[in-house]
Amino acid sequence: MCGITGYIGYRQATPVLLEALKKLEYRGYDSAGIAVLHEDALLVRKMKGPLQVLEARLATETIAGSLGIGHTRWATHGEPSDINSHPHTDVSGRIAIVHNGIIENYAKIKAWLQARGGVFKSDTDTEVIAHLINYYYQQYQKDIPGTRDILLHAVQHALTRLAGSYALGVIACDFPDRLIAARKDSPLIVGLGEGEHFIASDVPALLAYTREVYFLEEREVAVLYRDHVDLFTEQGEKIIRAPSHVDWDLASAEKGGYAHFMLKEIHDQAKAFTDTLRPRLTLEAQGWDINFDEIKLDAGWAEAPRIVITACGTAWHAAMVGKYAFERFARIPVEVDIASEYRYRNPVFNPQDIFIVISQSGETADTLAAMRLAKKGGARILAITNAVGSTLSREADLVLYTWAGPEIAVASTKAFTTQLLCLYLLALKLGLLRGCLSDASPYLQALSEVADKVARILNQKELIQRFASRQFNKDKVFFIGRQFDYAVSLECALKLKEISYTHSEAFAAGELKHGPIALVDTNTLVVALATQRELFDKIVSNIREVTSRGAASLVITWEGESAFDAVADEVFTIPQIEDSLSPLLSIIPAQLFAYYCAVQRGNDPDKPRNLAKSVTVE
Ligand code: F6R
Repeated sequence: MCGITGYIGYRQATPVLLEALKKLEYRGYDSAGIAVLHEDALLVRKMKGPLQVLEARLATETIAGSLGIGHTRWATHGEPSDINSHPHTDVSGRIAIVHNGIIENYAKIKAWLQARGGVFKSDTDTEVIAHLINYYYQQYQKDIPGTRDILLHAVQHALTRLAGSYALGVIACDFPDRLIAARKDSPLIVGLGEGEHFIASDVPALLAYTREVYFLEEREVAVLYRDHVDLFTEQGEKIIRAPSHVDWDLASAEKGGYAHFMLKEIHDQAKAFTDTLRPRLTLEAQGWDINFDEIKLDAGWAEAPRIVITACGTAWHAAMVGKYAFERFARIPVEVDIASEYRYRNPVFNPQDIFIVISQSGETADTLAAMRLAKKGGARILAITNAVGSTLSREADLVLYTWAGPEIAVASTKAFTTQLLCLYLLALKLGLLRGCLSDASPYLQALSEVADKVARILNQKELIQRFASRQFNKDKVFFIGRQFDYAVSLECALKLKEISYTHSEAFAAGELKHGPIALVDTNTLVVALATQRELFDKIVSNIREVTSRGAASLVITWEGESAFDAVADEVFTIPQIEDSLSPLLSIIPAQLFAYYCAVQRGNDPDKPRNLAKSVTVE
């Protein structure tokens, strides 16, 4: 949902901004722009289209200046166009801003400013912020001329008028020595260098320059000068805080020789898995044990009547797998809900419940809102997230990190499998605490072998690639499965639809006859996930039902398993593991299938149409 960046220092700002925007492009790619202070003027260049279009334009001229802001857009208000692209300026063109978020009351503010002579160029909500800052700036200039903080006061005053979400970067001709940044409900990070400072919506954009950062808190304002940074509360009180250190290395935010981030991240999964598992596994005399020092599960966990999990998209699918795992290992009822549903459905709270929120980015607006609602209801929140310093990690009571490293591709892969891993560990730990499991070590031993098994599946990726080259043009692809396989099917279908634009759906296999089978015809591919051994016969019948109606079929099942050879067109096998842990492996071929279908169809899997990675607005 848009990426913003900004630079103040001794380097030329333009190349710094462009490099940062490349790292943020996953957040939006329908237009991009920069504004750089050159002598006493703000030079704004912004273009509809991917970042390369802006880059090509900027290659034709030199824009000198060491203070600037940049933006990559995912349109919400106003179609993608040059005019609607950011940065936006006030009427005079002497104040420029970039914005990530949505200003919900922009129409009201726009009318208010128009009544005072404001003339607007774009259809965006963002433009009103530039005009509003200028409005107060003019006022303060009349009232208190010569004060060096007029711009800051004007920004702070404007912020009090805004309803909605924002991460903002503001620069002005009259203040060549500073860059102002602010956030509410959209992430923003200040990067600290020597004689130079940065802002960005996400850490990878800063890694080339620094690992020392401030994660701006809700409603904080930062003023970046070349030699220092001041942080303020909304009320204007100065904040003294030590910076945070981020460990991510630059290489993990680069493609590393792969054609796309998505393919790289699919391959990263073996390592991400090991990084997430190892710190939590200890080898005791009696076998493996789970070390959860970071979250200190107390007696309340053993006695909790229920687990509630909420999340969006892929993270919600992880929650669905988690439901089966908690019920299997810890015999505890689990309620799973989509965060955007949960937040508006007047849910019934029980403060004794365990409340889990899952979010790769830790910034998803609906997930944050659901968490805040539950917190208000007295719940203690455990967050599973990949983003250290994210809003979710800061507001939750307990945090379990997925150590997957930066996930850049819009389609989530390694975040999903590491979320699954955290959920399995929690379910096993809870099973032990509640006395439902006497020994988790066989499962933990199995988990410790998953990374190698992932690598073995990846070694066979050409089989999936060949299958995709034959099937990528199907009108419809349905994924079916039962129990754990059904939960994984949901994720398989999402992967395929979001990057290949094929109509794909997941069905609980037992539901086929209750309606969905009416959709099956000769242009349908049905992929059956078959890893729940006691249900194989039922899946065999399901495959017969769809193939007899003309559908092509693929079964994903265990190595050495022959139950499907006679009924399915194709069988892809994965290394054996205990049935209940199968989602950790069975998703990998489906991720590869989605990736290769997208490539066959000529789509860029890293930048699917209409999508952006981090959904920080409703
Ligand atoms: C799909 C995908 C999305 C996200 C969803 C939640 O591949 O990436 O469905 O899973 O937007 O995002 P997070 O996990 O950041 O809250």
